[in-house]
Amino acid sequence: MADLNDPTTQWWRNSVVYQVYVRSFADSDGDGIGDLPGITSRLPHLAELGVDALWITPFYTSPQHDHGYDVADYRDVDPLFGTLSDADDLVARAHELGLRVVVDIVPNHTSSEHEWFQAALAAGKGSPERARYLFRDAPDGELPNNWGSVFGGPAWTQVDDGQWYLHLFDSTQPDLDWRNPEVPAMFEDVLRFWLDRGVDGFRIDVAHGLFKVESLRDQEVGEDERPSSGQVNTDHSMVSLDLKDEPMWDQPEVHDVYRSWHRLLDEAGPDKMAVAEAWTQTPESMAAFVRPDELDQAFNFAWLLADWSAEAFARVITSTLAAVEPVGASPTWVLSNHDVVRHTTRYGGGAVGLARARAATLTMLALPGSSYLYQGEELGLEQVDVAPEHRQDPSWLRTGEVGRDGCRVPIPWSGTQAPYGFGPGEAQPWIPQPDDWAALTVEAQAADPGSTLAFYRDALRIRREFAWTAGDKVDVLDSDDDVLVLRRGPLTVVLNCGTTPVELPEGELLLASGPVEGTLPANTAAWLRA
Ligand code: GLC
Ligand code: MG
Repeated sequence: MADLNDPTTQWWRNSVVYQVYVRSFADSDGDGIGDLPGITSRLPHLAELGVDALWITPFYTSPQHDHGYDVADYRDVDPLFGTLSDADDLVARAHELGLRVVVDIVPNHTSSEHEWFQAALAAGKGSPERARYLFRDAPDGELPNNWGSVFGGPAWTQVDDGQWYLHLFDSTQPDLDWRNPEVPAMFEDVLRFWLDRGVDGFRIDVAHGLFKVESLRDQEVGEDERPSSGQVNTDHSMVSLDLKDEPMWDQPEVHDVYRSWHRLLDEAGPDKMAVAEAWTQTPESMAAFVRPDELDQAFNFAWLLADWSAEAFARVITSTLAAVEPVGASPTWVLSNHDVVRHTTRYGGGAVGLARARAATLTMLALPGSSYLYQGEELGLEQVDVAPEHRQDPSWLRTGEVGRDGCRVPIPWSGTQAPYGFGPGEAQPWIPQPDDWAALTVEAQAADPGSTLAFYRDALRIRREFAWTAGDKVDVLDSDDDVLVLRRGPLTVVLNCGTTPVELPEGELLLASGPVEGTLPANTAAWLRA
C-alpha cells in the first residue's frame, strides 16, 4: 500500500479506488437518500474491504435532475447531502483510516439553476452572460444543428426570446463555452477550493466533452449508423461509440485545459491526481489524455465494453498496455459504474453471471495500474428491474427507455428486510430495494467465508502483497476464445471463459474466484504463484 504520509507518492498508480454513489451508499438522517455523514459512518467498511481510495460522485448544490451531475454551486454541499463541515469530516476520517478521497468535477455543463445560467437567461441575446454558454439562433422551424442529446432527443432547447442553447445531456444541463476565458478561470478556482479542503484528487466528468468543433457544424451520420441520442444503457456506454464523426467530442483544444490543470495539481503537491471520464473511440485517443503533462489516468472503458471472451479480454489488455506505455501513464480497469448495467447482469445474471463477474474481477485485479470498483459489486449485486414509477434517470424521462436507475439501488447493509440498514429505522430509500436481498447484506456476507464480500476482501489483501512489486509488464501466454493465461511478475492468472474445466499450470494456488478441485471450472479464474 502507498504510504498516506509520503507526500511524494504517486499512490494512484497501483491503487484500488471504490466509487461511492452518494444517494445510494448510506443515509444518516432517515430521508431515504444517502448523504455525507452516512458515508463517513461506513468508511470502516471500505478500510476493511482493503481499497486505497474512494471516489465520491457529486454532492454539490444541485436541483438533482441528473442526481448531482447538474451542479448549481460548485463550492457548496447540497443540504440533501449535508454541509461543508460534513465534507471536511469525511475527508479527515478517511485520511485517518488510510483512505484517499477523490471528488467529482463536472466542467462540461452547469445546472440550469447555476447563477451563470440564470444571468444568461435574464441578460438576453448577445450579452456577455450568454457568452459563457452556447446560445445560437436558428431559422424558424429549425434547430441550430442536428446534434442529439446523450439522454435522447435534440441537444437544443429554445428560450423565451427564441434563441437555443446547447445541452449534450439533459435540458437542465446547459453546456459551457470553454472558449470563453471566464470558464477555465472559474474551474481553476473550484479545483483550488477542494484542494484546500484536503481532497486527494478529482474524477473529471465528461472530460472529452468541453470543447465542441467551433463552427458547431452538423454531425455526419452514415446510412449504417444510428444517430447519437438515447444511447444510455443500450450498449452499456454513455455515448455512441460507433458514430465515426464526432464534432461534439474529443476536440484537440481540450488538452490545453488539462495541461493547465496538471500545473495546478502539481503546485498543490505531487500526491494530487486527476482521472478522466473520457468515452473516446480508441485506446490511443484515451492515452492522449494521460500524456505526461496532462491528467494522471483515464477510465479504460474498453475493459467494461468487452464481451465475455478470453480473446476479447486479451485484446483489451494488450492494446491498453500498448497505448499507455509510450506516455508513461498507469493503466486503469473498470467493470461497473453508476452509468452501466452491473457486470453480474451483463454476464448473464444468476449463478453464472455472478461466477463470471467474480472471475473477471479477479483477472482485473491482477493487472498493473488501478482498478475502479463500484459500490455493491463487492456484494455481487445485480442490476435491479426498477418499476417505472420509481425511475428517475433523465434518459428514461426523455426517451422512455429503461435508463440507469437499476444500478443505483441503495446498498443493503444489515437486517432481513428493506431498508436493510441503509438508513435509520424503517425509512424506505429513494428507490425501493428488492425483497430478496437479505442474504446479500454486508452483515450476512461478512459472516460467510464463501461470500462475494469475503472473496473481494481476500483478493484485495493478496493484491496488496504484489501490487507495487510485480511490475508493469504482462505476458499473455495463451488466449483463445475460451482460456486466457497471463503472467505478471511472479503471478500467473488463468481465466476460463469456456464451458469445460481446464488444467491449471504448475504453481501455488493463491486464490480462485470460485471452487477449484484440481482443474479450473468454467466461468472461474485463479491466481497462482510460480
Ligand atoms: C457522466 C456521468 C453521468 C452523467 C453525465 C452527465 O457521464 O457519469 O452519470 O449523467 O456525465 O454529467
Ligand atoms: Mg439522508
